[in-house]
Amino acid sequence: MAKNSLFLLPGDGIGPEIMAEVETIIAFLNGKGLTDFSLDRGLVGGCAYDAHGAAISEADMAKALAADAVLFGAVGGPKWDSVPYNCRPEAGLLRLRKDLGLFANLRPAICYPALADASSLKREVVEGLDILIVRELTGGVYFGEPKEIVTLENGEKRAVDTQVYTTHEIERIARVAFDLAKARNGRVSSAEKRNVMKSGVLWNQVVTKIGKEEYADVKLDHILADNCAMQLVRWPKQFDVILTDNLFGDVLSDIGAMLTGSLGMLPSASLGAPDAATGKRKALYEPVHGSAPDIAGTGAANPIAMIASFGMALRYSFGLIDLAGKLDDAIARVLGKGLRTKDIAQKGEATIDTRAMGAAILAEFKALVG
Ligand code: IPM
Ligand code: MG
Repeated sequence: MAKNSLFLLPGDGIGPEIMAEVETIIAFLNGKGLTDFSLDRGLVGGCAYDAHGAAISEADMAKALAADAVLFGAVGGPKWDSVPYNCRPEAGLLRLRKDLGLFANLRPAICYPALADASSLKREVVEGLDILIVRELTGGVYFGEPKEIVTLENGEKRAVDTQVYTTHEIERIARVAFDLAKARNGRVSSAEKRNVMKSGVLWNQVVTKIGKEEYADVKLDHILADNCAMQLVRWPKQFDVILTDNLFGDVLSDIGAMLTGSLGMLPSASLGAPDAATGKRKALYEPVHGSAPDIAGTGAANPIAMIASFGMALRYSFGLIDLAGKLDDAIARVLGKGLRTKDIAQKGEATIDTRAMGAAILAEFKALVG
């Protein structure tokens, strides 16, 4: 089997702790001969700033570009609150997204029945939920220029961020959403603010055209992004695939995460365009949650989103659909048995720590893989 290269960027806070649980799963898979992953590790975020004075070093950027997939933990923490803006921990993640061309961010929100009571919404609203948020990740207001704070003649300051999208950027993310919807329940809800924003008008027009011309078999709805936020907490099961831009996707996916019971449950995949020669996409997999500096080192972190992100790597980068499915099943079984980290426990329920949760998932996975 040809070696597949994984570049691990655990990052800050709880990142290294949750990444360690993925590494034990990789060691098991390699040991069994089911995979042949080669691992390399680098620094991103605050730890990279401490070591190199940048949120990611050029050497680690080169490794990320060369790897078959990047596994990313989390970045940031109060220690780096006052570092220069260009060096802030998040800059490392944004640079990876931009330089690897990871324009398609897939954020599934699945509510395991065993966790329906951990959500702040009623059980019947979230139980069995299975939606996918497809977020544009390399455009929009995150990267649009100008992006600046200038001092005006009267001494006042003026801050500008620029929301900008081109036809091509909208088309390619729309195709990703439509393709994924075809393999699911065949419905796309495209969320923008065409009632206020020109970029929303164009987004709406381009998505409509792609839907009509290329995906007549997929049902397309348009929804204003604010209404989408409301509908997500009112009756999220009405959605299948939600297609949206970078900023709305950031906000809507945090709502999506809470529907599933905890931010600690939500994995994500960020994919580039298929390479013209090899067909392979650059890819980065990361949990949606942050570095949780308040619980770092206490063993309270939930490794599920990180492990499920690795599951998405198995599925989307390496075509190991069967193994990915078994890893998801292992997570569901562990939850079904009532094992809980602190973030997903009900009041009075016993909890286990990060390593015990990782070990329990690995044990179930071993049993499923045989
Ligand atoms: C996310 C995060 C990032 C974002 C931050 C860390 C820059 O919130 O992945 O959702 O805003 O995209
Ligand atoms: Mg976010």
